[in-house]
Amino acid sequence: MIVTLDGPAGAGKSSTARALAARLGWCYMDTGAMYRAVALMALDRGIPLDDSAGLAELAEAITIEFRDGRVVVDGRDVSTEIRTDRITQATRPVADAPPVREAMKRVQRRMAEGMDVVTEGRDQGSVVFPAAALKVFLTASPEERARRRHQEEAARGNGVALAEILAAQSQRDEGDRTRAVGAMKPADDAVIVETDGLVAEDVVNRLVAMIEERSRS
Ligand code: C5P
Repeated sequence: MIVTLDGPAGAGKSSTARALAARLGWCYMDTGAMYRAVALMALDRGIPLDDSAGLAELAEAITIEFRDGRVVVDGRDVSTEIRTDRITQATRPVADAPPVREAMKRVQRRMAEGMDVVTEGRDQGSVVFPAAALKVFLTASPEERARRRHQEEAARGNGVALAEILAAQSQRDEGDRTRAVGAMKPADDAVIVETDGLVAEDVVNRLVAMIEERSRS
């Protein structure tokens, strides 16, 4: 069975998807981390970020695994490295390239074959797994998402202004929504879940109830 969780950054997708997969004992697939991993390997191997054919080839050639909450590429733990600003920026052209998205779609389908999976991203319900048992689109207001990010940054000792976070976030959202292929949008049959004021546990409880209901019918 496949459950997809799509939505903008800061809507609580990652913590929800992780907790949901753990609760169900299912595999967890973080497709944002997969695009990030391709960007990292491209920089490492000197593949130009505008060489979309080369990037697509790379996306199919590397082995990405999710092991105990870590992201492992060709046997190397890249969990920390793929979250740096350098990689966040390099990921944008990688994720925008249609041949890379085609390659990733194949890789993601292959990884999920025959498994029970919770997968999170932007296009998982709309493009990659159109037949998923449950498709969820998690959202929260821009202010709430920016506030959460602000708190995370403060907890890491980074004093970034809330207004700055909000501006960068709306630029990212715009890029995600207007991408020519694989744009972020809810699948036609997605359940929209607003997470303003909810903690991950509330959202997970709701999703577990939906999954139980669907597996009964
Ligand atoms: O979610 P995260 O910030 O890790 O995603 C990294 C990048 O990959 C973002 O630019 C996002 O737009 C892109 N992405 C994508 N399709 C997905 C998941 C992420 O284009 N399914």
